[in-house]
Amino acid sequence: MPTATVAPTTYLNFIDGEWRASRTGRTFENINPADTRDVVGLLQDSDASDVDAAVQAAQKAFPAWASMPAPARGKILLKAAAILEGRLADMADLLSREEGKTIGEAKGEVNRAVRILEYFGGEGARLSGQTIPSERPRVFMYTIRQPLGVVALIAPWNFPIAIPTWKMAPALVSGNAVVFKPASQAPLTSLELVKILEQAGIPKGVLNLVTGSGSSVGTPLVAHPLVRAISFTGSDGVGRGIAAVGAERLARVQLEMGGKNPTIVLADADMDVAVDCVLNAAFFSTGQRCTATSRAIVEKGAVQPFVERLVARAEKLKIGDPRDPSTELGPAIDEKQLKTTLRYLDIGKQEGATLVHGGERLSEGAHANGWFSRPAIMTGVSSQSKLGQDEVFGPLLGIIEAKDFNDAVGLANDVRFGLSASICTTNVSRALEYVERAEAGMVMVNLPSAGVEYHIPFGGIKDSSSGWREQGPLATQFFTDSKTVYIKY
Ligand code: UN1
Repeated sequence: MPTATVAPTTYLNFIDGEWRASRTGRTFENINPADTRDVVGLLQDSDASDVDAAVQAAQKAFPAWASMPAPARGKILLKAAAILEGRLADMADLLSREEGKTIGEAKGEVNRAVRILEYFGGEGARLSGQTIPSERPRVFMYTIRQPLGVVALIAPWNFPIAIPTWKMAPALVSGNAVVFKPASQAPLTSLELVKILEQAGIPKGVLNLVTGSGSSVGTPLVAHPLVRAISFTGSDGVGRGIAAVGAERLARVQLEMGGKNPTIVLADADMDVAVDCVLNAAFFSTGQRCTATSRAIVEKGAVQPFVERLVARAEKLKIGDPRDPSTELGPAIDEKQLKTTLRYLDIGKQEGATLVHGGERLSEGAHANGWFSRPAIMTGVSSQSKLGQDEVFGPLLGIIEAKDFNDAVGLANDVRFGLSASICTTNVSRALEYVERAEAGMVMVNLPSAGVEYHIPFGGIKDSSSGWREQGPLATQFFTDSKTVYIKY
């Protein structure tokens, strides 16, 4: 595994069109989770004064940006898409190095960001309102959509380019000015994305980036009186705090938080399809996706054949350096995340579940300097146990046995979260009945619960989400107000 031999580069905040050091004079390290000797970069450990400078710059830049025709704003995004596409290989390598997902997954994610920029670039020409016939003669009624002002975007580390892009692109094309806080565990891919948008011609002050911790950057950003809307993806606890702060001054809040996503495997399923879906959704990206499957709800007769095949596949997974193209599974993002996964294995055992595969920490040879573990499969998990209810965010799958289809649907819905849900079956009426009854914002049939497309709405229900959809044609709703116009002629 390559190790940095030269001193790491220091990266700056981007405020009012300039790359600036934080007023604190401090930096923090961005560490490669597959080899912790490798410091990927040093980033600004900013505070509330940097946040205020960024918000003020955004506020100043907002009116001119808002009055630029939307198709012209879109054109900047299209240009950024082209630049990013030209840098696919180096951006994917950086993403894999700082986040630990495999190089294949990283390329897929950068490519997804390109598509998102193209989609919302085109959205500049489609930001339309409605015309509605008036009850009165010679009255013309229509609606237009207008930007909100300064919006704060707070992104997680697990998709360090796709999620920032799917927040930034609709925010910008709608005419808002942005202050963006990337995640501290994987900030550099996000920072490069901002550089690309700068290069594509985003005017000074319209897009600002401030790096640093949740407490010293996130908290003052969310609380800033000039911030009109906050879009956040991350943990459920932090999200609830943001909702409370936003409610106080009536700032609009979009939250995408946890999941405890089920995949139902019925006895009539094509077992190869079911094993592929669950292996992918539970373990790829090291289980660090809010759309990951962490509960496989398997119909009685199918438990044994399903588990046997799944274990056989899991045994063969190649775990190691994510930048080696043959690797299938990388490390956890950091020690804390690895320990959380290992802790939930113990919790599961105490609750009476049986470990049938994996779970051990890997710390020899190629794994010596990273946060690696073998993906774990536990059977006999009960729905109301902690392992059956809590989001783990690691490669740990619990198998819950269901008596029949009805029981499976009840178990799948028996959690406070509702992000995505999957069912594997060859029976079309059961598939469609599950689509109807699933308490989730997204339902997949014979497909993994994770791995979404950019041009259809994304989001959850129940405790997973605030309900505002991201991506696809609904994404700009969050970033715009509707204005109603009546004209008598
Ligand atoms: C995906 O499954 O392709 O943080 C995307 C997350 C989600 C994105 C999942 N917001 O994991």
